[in-house]
Amino acid sequence: MTSLIYLDWNATTPPLPEAIDAMAEVARVAWGNPASIHGSGRAARDVVETAREELARLVGASARDVIFTSGGTEANNLALRRAPALVTSALEHPSVTRVAEALEAEGRPVRWLPVRESGWVEPEAVREALAGLPTATVVAVAAVNHETGVVQPVPAIAELVRAAGARLHVDAVQAVGKLPAEHWAGADTFAVAAHKLRGPKGIGALVHRPERAPKPLLLGGSQERGRRAGTVDPVAAAGFRVAAAWAARSMPARTEIATLRDAFEAALVGRGARVNGEGAPRLGHVSNVSFPGVAGDELVAALDLLGVAVSSGSACSAGTTEPSKVIAAMVGVARAREAVRVSLGDTTTAEELARALSALDRALGGPSAANLR
Ligand SMILES: Cc1ncc(COP(=O)(O)O)c(C=O)c1O
Repeated sequence: MTSLIYLDWNATTPPLPEAIDAMAEVARVAWGNPASIHGSGRAARDVVETAREELARLVGASARDVIFTSGGTEANNLALRRAPALVTSALEHPSVTRVAEALEAEGRPVRWLPVRESGWVEPEAVREALAGLPTATVVAVAAVNHETGVVQPVPAIAELVRAAGARLHVDAVQAVGKLPAEHWAGADTFAVAAHKLRGPKGIGALVHRPERAPKPLLLGGSQERGRRAGTVDPVAAAGFRVAAAWAARSMPARTEIATLRDAFEAALVGRGARVNGEGAPRLGHVSNVSFPGVAGDELVAALDLLGVAVSSGSACSAGTTEPSKVIAAMVGVARAREAVRVSLGDTTTAEELARALSALDRALGGPSAANLR
């Protein structure tokens, strides 16, 4: 049996072997409660604080301003759930759009930015949306879109937000480790998740400007300087530390991934695919494409049977698959139903992509999958 070809790195990444080793070691020797004052607690606290420093270095912040959370979802909620007013877009991850909907339901002003076909957020639209809203309004935008890899103009947006006296929250979950920290340097808060950069699941962070510490959402102990109640897991923190150090080192290898992606995407286009996010600046490891007349989720299932893991961006709700809301907002529901996201990582090889292409050809044209067209 040939091995699985994993091309779904935007969903999650394989944990680094060194991160797994570090976690196993900490689970054995530094499993204490980081809040305890005895030796066992101190050992665990050292692990957590070293991880905080390593992450702060990677993202260009001070360790004091890093709040560990359970992941990107909690970090986005922590930044946004108490916003008096919000400006965001339908392009965001559900951990942002669902908070926006909740705020709207509570009667707080929420403005949705217009979405262009390319999936790029126009900075000028942010200025217009902020007109007439209170100064403590939060603008929430992702640095890199999770479905298309589109890089948003965060520095330009940050300038406009600051000029308007509002606040900027950046969902940097798909950007950290892939873009330099200057990209979100203008944010008041930003979200990170370890599992998108080869660390473990279940740990992330909200990083804030010193004067923009969020009010806690969870009621409980005074961990994380009173900003996030609950015991921080030193095991997960150990994996996060290794992943953050690795992410800083591996940034240069990203141009090689882009070369592979470009060749792969050209091959997809040669087979009739339309690129979602075309025309906008995109990171070099993602291709989101629609094959006209082919249901994205069926193609994903057919590729899975052939040993290739990709994603359709669709969410399963009440037993029915919904097309990606992000792609639907960009290019309409019909094309969103045909969308497939292929996301590469640092271990992806040209040979794997060649095998993925032959699997695609079988899925699209082979007798067993003729029903896809
Ligand atoms: C852009 C973006 N934000 C937030 C999240 C949520 O992160 P987590 O899975 O750590 O809760 C994800 C994960 O898919 C994401 O891609």
